[in-house]
Amino acid sequence: MRALTWHGKHNVQMDTVPDPEIINPRDAIIRITATAICGSDLHLYDSYIPGMSNGDILGHEFMGEVVDVGRGNTNLKKGDRVVVPFVIACGQCFFCQKSLPAACDNSNPADKADASEIAFGQVMTGAFGYSHLTGGYAGGQAEYARVPYSDYGPIKIPDGVEDEKVLFLSDIFPTGWMAAENCQIERGDTVAVWGCGPVGLFAIKCAFLQGAGRVIAIDHHPNRLALARANGAEVLNYHEVRVRETLQEMTAGLGPDSCIDAVGMESHGFSPDNIVDAVKTSTRMGTDRAHVLRETIMAVRKGGTVSVPGVYGGFADKVPVGAFMQKGLTLKTGQTHVQRYLPALLEMILDGRIDTTDLISHRLPLEQAPEAYRNFKENQNEWTKVVLHPE
Ligand SMILES: NC(=O)c1ccc[n+]([C@@H]2O[C@H](COP(=O)([O-])OP(=O)(O)OC[C@H]3O[C@@H](n4cnc5c(N)ncnc54)[C@H](O)[C@@H]3O)[C@@H](O)[C@H]2O)c1
Ligand SMILES: [Zn+2]
Ligand SMILES: [Zn+2]
Repeated sequence: MRALTWHGKHNVQMDTVPDPEIINPRDAIIRITATAICGSDLHLYDSYIPGMSNGDILGHEFMGEVVDVGRGNTNLKKGDRVVVPFVIACGQCFFCQKSLPAACDNSNPADKADASEIAFGQVMTGAFGYSHLTGGYAGGQAEYARVPYSDYGPIKIPDGVEDEKVLFLSDIFPTGWMAAENCQIERGDTVAVWGCGPVGLFAIKCAFLQGAGRVIAIDHHPNRLALARANGAEVLNYHEVRVRETLQEMTAGLGPDSCIDAVGMESHGFSPDNIVDAVKTSTRMGTDRAHVLRETIMAVRKGGTVSVPGVYGGFADKVPVGAFMQKGLTLKTGQTHVQRYLPALLEMILDGRIDTTDLISHRLPLEQAPEAYRNFKENQNEWTKVVLHPE
């Protein structure tokens, strides 16, 4: 089959690789009909996440048709259309039973788990196409994928619903939903969202759906800010205003009730802390550019909540722990517990309560994935979200 493979920093290629096969009884093989590039893929493209090997197949946002099912799977059958969560989870362990599939203890094989245990103190859960720290699973920017525990994760899609409407159930819609849920929004609250990429845009939509009265969105790409505005947000261009001060003015001196960091480890901008972080990461003296995390902690109102869907991978200094403690803040974060949200979010799409397609800027054949990666990184203003089709 054809698949997009990683070969080092800023080097991804379309290769011909062996077709996946059923390995375990609960596996299914999916023929992929649509797959997307995520901001998280850029962390791999930019080589910020360790544990990648030459030839690894990328991609964790995908859906398709079931073409083969293991004998232990009574939930799926050939011909079913499914969206696959990016998180691989068993559905049975302590964490899955607590509805925390992104903390599943079984999906990262023991021989791979050591590295994530060293990096994070505990073993990370498996994920598709996301380095050997999360199991080294082949991803879904390919013609086919093997889906482990496929009786638990994938959600069946009724006939007649276009791929594009439901594809983002694989990641960014639940991620935006959990980012908003982590804000513990009370009706009428003001929520500030850093980053108007796909995750930030879904966080804006979901914050309103969960009762926010105002959402203030921060970025510097005019097109992405325009999308945020079209979704009801007031917008700030961080190249034009001082973000914390402006947020304070806009909220009668209080600060937003909650702040969402939908940027993560690759924050842009020329603030002094970001420049120091950039020097440190480029000389391997540091791992993450945590400017947005710092800014959310400083900007949120006293007693407020900071929600961090943005991915961080290592260590960060100058995080204002004093403000965090003295202001009595709550911090909530994590890889998204995708499986937990899927039935309710699919219902919302089918009921027409949310537009899940307005952020798609490009629809391309899978063969053009390498140039799509380059553009999604270098031309973020125009390239808001790319959907790839293997045929
Ligand atoms: N927690 C999860 O399960 C999960 C799932 C998906 C994605 N993510 C993470 O969410 C983050 C966003 O993903 P995305 O797909 O939207 O990425 P993206 O790269 O498309 O968007 C990031 C946006 O942040 C903006 N930005 C950069 N620096 C900023 C700053 N200082 N202030 C305000 N905005 C700034 C950029 O201009 C860009 O528009 C990434 O870190 C990604 O890895 C997490
Ligand atoms: Zn993703
Ligand atoms: Zn589990």
